[in-house]
Amino acid sequence: MNAETLVKAVGLVTRAERSGRGFFRLTLHAPEVARKVQPGQFVMVAVHPLVAAEAESLVARWDPLLRRPFSICRADANRGEIALMGETRGRGSALLAAALPGQRYSLLGPLGRPFRLERARRRLLLVGGGMGVAPLLFAGERFAASGHEVSVLFGYRTQSAVVGWEETAAWAAGRYLATEDGSAGEKGLVSDVLRRLLAERGKVDAILACGPPGMLAAVTGVAREARVHCLVSLERAMGCGFGVCLSCAVARPDGTYALVCTDGPVFAAEEVDLTV
Ligand SMILES: Cc1cc2nc3c(=O)[nH]c(=O)nc-3n(C[C@H](O)[C@H](O)[C@H](O)COP(=O)(O)OP(=O)(O)OC[C@H]3O[C@@H](n4cnc5c(N)ncnc54)[C@H](O)[C@@H]3O)c2cc1C
Ligand code: FES
Repeated sequence: MNAETLVKAVGLVTRAERSGRGFFRLTLHAPEVARKVQPGQFVMVAVHPLVAAEAESLVARWDPLLRRPFSICRADANRGEIALMGETRGRGSALLAAALPGQRYSLLGPLGRPFRLERARRRLLLVGGGMGVAPLLFAGERFAASGHEVSVLFGYRTQSAVVGWEETAAWAAGRYLATEDGSAGEKGLVSDVLRRLLAERGKVDAILACGPPGMLAAVTGVAREARVHCLVSLERAMGCGFGVCLSCAVARPDGTYALVCTDGPVFAAEEVDLTV
């Protein structure tokens, strides 16, 4: 994607949900994005609502200046809606968490390379950690609808951090939940549960993973040992989202660098060096 092909859109908040734990979920009416987006792609969101300055023009306030990247966790082209889910980390996400129905936000996107799989890779296991489940929810729903057999293994620190789990019941053939402290589901790290599942359940054609860097490094290691094709969706702090600022560089095994915003965020596990 280059600057000439960037799509700038306005998202109207139609629903804003918040939990006491700093989690939020926004449903936005953004028909062009909803029509184009593929699972794994993201939008760069200007975190202040747009303010009507005069009849036909909209202006935004610019502090913080930089947009923030958010995965699309659901899209409904018929209704023209997309959904974003997030957790409050700093100022930008705190502003988004306070969004109200009726407010409008400036969006850039959809951006980045989506999850791409050949149809022959039928049995999929989605492995998510924490808020990393966001792009997997969209991927799971879409791949299940197109005939793949989709199972999920989601891991969280503790029960109160569980997010996005309930909605997997609508499309997942197998559901596995783990928490580090054992307060919900199986006690342990997702990478350990993954190793056991692959040994017990047998054939999986592809793993799609998203989560914190340490978790992704462990999951790709298990996938490599088991010789299972693995796609990872990476998160890096992003200044622009379209290949200009170079803030999102990630090392490749040959010592060169890829940009998470334009070469990713979805990579085949062997394309990136997650140990750096
Ligand atoms: C492609 C992509 C998709 C993403 N999708 C989601 C999503 O669906 N839901 C969601 O909650 N978050 C998502 N993120 C992360 C989200 O963009 C950051 O949490 C957000 O930009 C933080 O902004 P802030 O102003 O709240 O925090 P800042 O004030 O910018 O930072 C607060 C703290 O968070 C850390 N931080 C900032 N960005 C990241 C990051 N990308 N990963 C880890 N730590 C970070 C900073 O180092 C700092 O310690 C995604 C990131 C990328 C690159
Ligand atoms: S975020 Fe600017 S180059 Fe990737």
